[in-house]
Amino acid sequence: NLPSAVTIKEVGPRDGLQNEKEIVKTEDKIQWIDRLSQTGLKHIEITSFVNPKWIPALADALEVAKGITRAPGVTYSALVPNMRGLDGALQADLDEVAVFMSATESHNQKNINKSIDATFPILQEVVTEAKKSGKIVRGYLSTVFGCPYEGVTDRAQVAYVAEQLLAMGIDELSLGDTIGVANPRQVQELLALLLQTMPAEKLAMHFHDTRGTAMANVLASLQMGITTFDSSLGGLGGCPYAPGASGNLATDDLLYMLHGMGISTGVDGEKIMEAAKLIQAKIGRSLPSHALQAAADA
Ligand code: HMG
Ligand code: MG
Repeated sequence: NLPSAVTIKEVGPRDGLQNEKEIVKTEDKIQWIDRLSQTGLKHIEITSFVNPKWIPALADALEVAKGITRAPGVTYSALVPNMRGLDGALQADLDEVAVFMSATESHNQKNINKSIDATFPILQEVVTEAKKSGKIVRGYLSTVFGCPYEGVTDRAQVAYVAEQLLAMGIDELSLGDTIGVANPRQVQELLALLLQTMPAEKLAMHFHDTRGTAMANVLASLQMGITTFDSSLGGLGGCPYAPGASGNLATDDLLYMLHGMGISTGVDGEKIMEAAKLIQAKIGRSLPSHALQAAADA
């Protein structure tokens, strides 16, 4: 019993580009995001307002956010770790901000330089202020299946942090397999636990495809009633503070599977392929998605 429609949230301009060694030019990012806005995607995460010393590839966050042409009906979002980041997103008048933290102590520390307990009040203030400004607020929870420093993540710990985030008043929680270690059984077991206390409509899944299990994990999530998925064009991506993290599940591959199964997304698969080729050309190397490789061979 699968859903008939799902929402795809494109994270390539943020999660994809944050890990690129060659920094993509601001004007190229803008051109690419503008192209993405014409594909039928309703949600694009465009950048991060974080410390540029930590993520040099997104140091141009404000220029990108102010430079894009905002298409009607598209929600534009950015990552914000703290009030300073929220200020940036508000200056650019983005529609949505995304706070983020990890389910495991050591990844939280490496990624945002704080303990889990010290992170809660910082994110709570961001959520409260963003809501006052009329913004949609998303929360990311990373390392929910496995952590580069701690191994397999304890489900009870994930449930605990997830509940704290939802209690802050976020609109949606995205569960991240940051280093792409999950398998479908783990997905089913974690979701079975979380869905006891949270509605499926509030959850999104964010798979990285490091070990080739992302698509199988999508299917397991669909079977559990999840209808929102994060993905990245061409399979770009990874967290620079998670050794071994590689690209997100590719949007082009995900669309191929969903559309083939008769699950609608509102996104135009051909336009997505054109946008994937555009960023591939700007980056100057082959991107990992299967769809791009199949297109190159055809
Ligand atoms: P910190 O060093 O602990 O921050 O970093 P601080 O508050 O002590 O401030 C230190 C310096 O940072 C100061 O500058 C601040 O002004 C500056 P200085 O006086 O040294 O020149 N600063 C900022 N600058 C710009 N924008 C800001 C900002 N905040 C402070 N918002 C902080 C704490 C969180 C800022 C830092 O650790 C950081 O930027 N981390 C970035 C982590 C990151 O972006 N990781 C990748 C995204 S998460 C991810 O990929 C996972 C996800 O995809 C889901 C999944 O896959 O699981 C979402
Ligand atoms: Mg990610």
